[in-house]
Amino acid sequence: MQGHLATEAAIQPVAPAVQVPAVERYGVVPMPNLAWTPEVERATAHLYEKVKAIIPPVEWPFHAPYVKAINDLKKERNAVILAHNYQTPEIYNCVADVVGDSLQLAKLAAKSDADIIVQGGVHFMAETSKLLNPNKTVLIPDRKAGCSLAESITGADVRLLRQRYPGVPVVAYVNTSAEVKAEVDICCTSSNALKIVESMGSDRVIFLPDQYLAKNVQAQTKVQIIAWKGACEVHERFTAEELLRYKADDPSIQIIAHPECPPEVVAVSDFAGSTAAMIDFVKTRKPKRVLMVTECSMADNVATETTGTEFVRPCNLCPHMKRITLPKILDSLVYLREEVTIDPLLAERARRSVERMIEVG
Ligand code: 13P
Ligand code: SF4
Repeated sequence: MQGHLATEAAIQPVAPAVQVPAVERYGVVPMPNLAWTPEVERATAHLYEKVKAIIPPVEWPFHAPYVKAINDLKKERNAVILAHNYQTPEIYNCVADVVGDSLQLAKLAAKSDADIIVQGGVHFMAETSKLLNPNKTVLIPDRKAGCSLAESITGADVRLLRQRYPGVPVVAYVNTSAEVKAEVDICCTSSNALKIVESMGSDRVIFLPDQYLAKNVQAQTKVQIIAWKGACEVHERFTAEELLRYKADDPSIQIIAHPECPPEVVAVSDFAGSTAAMIDFVKTRKPKRVLMVTECSMADNVATETTGTEFVRPCNLCPHMKRITLPKILDSLVYLREEVTIDPLLAERARRSVERMIEVG
């Protein structure tokens, strides 16, 4: 696949989108009662079992009424909640229908037969769900849930890159806006980045926007990678020095890192992979002690699904992921907000980039 694909499609006139807002199609429902009652306690007891190692009993009465209300409303609305692995344990374990990394969520979004998708994650993830489900209502509980990577580049930047490197194919990490996806040849995630780069059949590839993921892929391939300067504000804060101090304290500790970390961090780690691959590592290798070099909630969520592993947490929170909370998810389902809309012509071009990624695997 060569760079001409997106060049042909670039800068097309955009027709105004005619979409009936979800709130007009489905209407608002009354806000459920959010009291902590014996009925709520009974209805959520099996869910508390899943999170009791992470959420203290005194906190559960605050979460449980929301958990019950959200799960009831999901049925009433024929809605599903897709939650990224960085969502808080009460979302990940108690209201999500599907959990996973970006690639898993994108694929499962494509298979959904719900009328409404609520994205437990950040805005680019909700846009990807909308791209793959153009006729469904996709809601993001907080529109401000952004991403430092997605915000580092625009569609105009991609067009300038194409002018500077004519004919060089462009691969975009899914952590980009739909506007950027519409300008590139193909998308990738952290779990398939190497495969996608090598599938382009070119000796040079523009890779955006994550400079560190680009460098980590470059270390594994002969394809020359031209990288954009973006970075994840969570993963770029980890340093090799801090990880080496943990290793010095306990040489048996397993250090597993996300490839959005700088290459020197990946170099001192025992394993690097997407959030799903990191979870898999813990579940299959069952290390005694593990240090997860990624967003904070991951360790909490894996801890609810494993036994016998001690998690050491050098905690870096993603402020964008943490904007999504149970009260905002409930508001989303009651008031059908914030609805994600993408101009249909732009969406068609962006969708092609995501679908090509799914086809390559
Ligand atoms: P994954 O695709 O590995 O889940 O990563 C998404 C992300 O935003 C990590 O910061
Ligand atoms: Fe973006 Fe980093 Fe947050 Fe992931 S963790 S959503 S890459 S800012």
